[in-house]
Amino acid sequence: MTESNLMVLLKGRRSVRKYLPEKVDRKKINLCLEAARLAPSACNSQPYKFIVIDDRQTKENLRTAFSGIYSPCSFALSAPAIIAIVTQKQKLTAQIGNLMQNIDFRYVDIGIAGEHFVLQAQELGLGTCWIGWFDKKKVNAVLGIPGGLAVEVMITLGYPAEKTKERSKKSFAELVSYNEY
Ligand SMILES: Cc1cc2nc3c(=O)[nH]c(=O)nc-3n(C[C@H](O)[C@H](O)[C@H](O)COP(=O)(O)O)c2cc1C
Repeated sequence: MTESNLMVLLKGRRSVRKYLPEKVDRKKINLCLEAARLAPSACNSQPYKFIVIDDRQTKENLRTAFSGIYSPCSFALSAPAIIAIVTQKQKLTAQIGNLMQNIDFRYVDIGIAGEHFVLQAQELGLGTCWIGWFDKKKVNAVLGIPGGLAVEVMITLGYPAEKTKERSKKSFAELVSYNEY
């Protein structure tokens, strides 16, 4: 069986932590955001908002959120664009679902929408890296996030400056079983 275009894309994706200085056209960024917009979410709540940071001064203001223990992720500031994903309130039905299932579906939803973004970026030849390690309070303050809401994760975006090595993944046998654990 020949590999699907999607499988080729999936196999080519890596987390990219070094970027060329070249700016990313907003049309391309918006295409990635459109892919995120189409994502499924629990009860179709879409409990997220994407903030694009592609302005030099705003990135500079974020420097403080990547200092000290967060400095391993300061490479994020070298990306031409950073996308901050903010969680928002869910529909009541999704909130009830969270309670009954003892899970916060907002984070599942963010993961799916964010990965839609990542895969569209990959198709455009752009590199990305999910970032979960940053000073949340400082990011929220710099971006003016309203009280009660928060930036949960960010995704860096730009043209890759290096060919990143493939990270090992679980074998198929470790990952999968049929009909029982
Ligand atoms: C939710 C999430 C948070 C992550 N946070 C960080 C981070 O803070 N810093 C970082 O360098 N990489 C981060 N990563 C990237 C992972 O380290 C990376 O996906 C993993 O090592 C597998 O490598 P690959 O993406 O190249 O397949 C994060 C990934 C995810 C999905």
